[in-house]
Amino acid sequence: MATACGKTILFGEHFVVYGLPAIAGSVSGKTTVKARMTAGMQGVKVTAKSKGHNIEFLEKVAVVLAKKLGIVEGLELEVDTELPIGAGMGSSAAFSVAATRALAKIIGRNLGNDDVSRIAYEGEKLAHGTPSGIDNTVATYGGLVWFVKNLEGGANTVERLTAGKPLDMVIGTCPRKGTTKELVEGVRARKEANPEKFARIFVEAKELAEEARVALKAGDEGKIGALMNRNHALLQEIGVSTKKLDRMCAAAMKAGALGTKLTGAGGGGSMIALCPGKQEAVKKAIEKLCWPAIAVRVGE
Ligand code: PMV
Repeated sequence: MATACGKTILFGEHFVVYGLPAIAGSVSGKTTVKARMTAGMQGVKVTAKSKGHNIEFLEKVAVVLAKKLGIVEGLELEVDTELPIGAGMGSSAAFSVAATRALAKIIGRNLGNDDVSRIAYEGEKLAHGTPSGIDNTVATYGGLVWFVKNLEGGANTVERLTAGKPLDMVIGTCPRKGTTKELVEGVRARKEANPEKFARIFVEAKELAEEARVALKAGDEGKIGALMNRNHALLQEIGVSTKKLDRMCAAAMKAGALGTKLTGAGGGGSMIALCPGKQEAVKKAIEKLCWPAIAVRVGE
């Protein structure tokens, strides 16, 4: 049996695909995978204790991971997660990481985190095409992570950050149009059509992530919130926010959040609000718009 955690991207989604820095943190909500080899059985069978999984997809991921680990026997995996599925909280990466650990255990391989994350990334490719690798990185290491993708294919920069203050947030989720892959492709097309605009946005996105890193370490909540708002504005400019997400962000600000932004690929999906001491009020404000919201502490 092995576990992994979920994630939320605090700064730099989409820009991370182009080698700019991003910051993400783990969220409470464990994913557990139990694995066993079954003699005489062919292929991989996944069952789930928790609801909402796409079993067919998880089986495909598990096949990739088993292959990477050199497992040829039949496998049975059982997944159980406290994370909402498909809500931008990294449930697929958490499965890849927990399954990699569980499979390594049953063949007696003692994998370090770097290897776990590298193998789990292969599973993530099935979900996202060419993911930056930030999801599997946070699901593996937990905590708060500064991440820069190596565009030359070498090792990515992964640095653990320590937040000066706990990050009490609310995550709100609405239905999403398009997959991560499609949303990333849409950004690429708009970038190609408008290179000057994107060059300016990229400069700002980089500066913003660097400022956020300092503010997070210092526990400067006001500054973190302001930077989240600026990051959201950039995500609006690259065309991945939606009216629903903007409305949720506005409602959270009105209820006392210090800053809000969409998190993850956008097109709907999830938004986060930094709201120390105001989690209940912010949660209610989002629920009033008829979308589910949960209070989380990020990066612990
Ligand atoms: O779809 P999510 O929530 O896992 O977020 C994807 C984040 C992107 O930066 C848009 C893509 C990536 O691979 O990093």
